[in-house]
Amino acid sequence: MLAVDGLVAGYGGSRVLHGIDLAVGAGEVVTLLGRNGMGKTTTVRSIMGLLKPAAGRIAFDGRDVTGLPPYRIAQRGIGLVPEGRQVFPTLTVEENLVATAANRAGGAPRWTLDAVLALFPRLAERRRNLGARLSGGEQQMLAIGRALMTNPRLLVLDEATEGLAPLIRAEIWAVLARLRAEGQAILLIDKNLAAILRLADRHVVIEKGRVVWTGTSEALSAAPEVRDTYLHV
Ligand SMILES: Nc1ncnc2c1ncn2[C@@H]1O[C@H](COP(=O)(O)OP(=O)(O)OP(=O)(O)O)[C@@H](O)[C@H]1O
Ligand SMILES: [Mg+2]
Repeated sequence: MLAVDGLVAGYGGSRVLHGIDLAVGAGEVVTLLGRNGMGKTTTVRSIMGLLKPAAGRIAFDGRDVTGLPPYRIAQRGIGLVPEGRQVFPTLTVEENLVATAANRAGGAPRWTLDAVLALFPRLAERRRNLGARLSGGEQQMLAIGRALMTNPRLLVLDEATEGLAPLIRAEIWAVLARLRAEGQAILLIDKNLAAILRLADRHVVIEKGRVVWTGTSEALSAAPEVRDTYLHV
């Protein structure tokens, strides 16, 4: 579904990514791991068209999407839950959700306002509240709901459980497990190793903009040296 080959990108004159290879198949959950500042968000920004790659190729469903503007990438079916949530503070929960609604697949969309509010009952309770009035956990749920409203074929989450209370975190992991069970393809960045080992099929570990390890959850569980060297646990 998603194939990233030899992605090189950076900011101004400074290179951050030096040739990232990464693939997510239909229905697969893949993580992008690595310590702070290693290039995870930069990879995601490149995939979403928010940053123009200096070299390499990004393909989605076999079609080259390298360098397309963000709205075109979203139209192709990639939905982003960005680092830092970025909900619209002056819109209500409902307005935030409706703002991104789209039906990529044709036919009856899986994700409608009602379906998202059923997935996150807390958002249903706060439907008329402004984005700015939500707790961090509620904002995170709203960011996920907003991405789902685009009915993405691939959902990309950049640190969706960062800084949240344990109970809220658990709720978000349960939602991701449900999405996975429905066959939603997911590319996930997160620091909670126990949770991602349970959820994901495969992992891609990067260090200073290069892929240094890839493997299944089983292989990562059995590789403490990878965790000690490249992840902070
Ligand atoms: N807008 C920017 N302008 C210049 N340099 C940037 C910019 N954003 C990130 N960088 C640099 O690029 C490198 C990779 O950053 P990136 O945000 O991709 O890392 P990350 O793996 O997502 O880290 P974290 O775990 O902290 O989110 C870092 O050295 C960072 O300082
Ligand atoms: Mg980041």
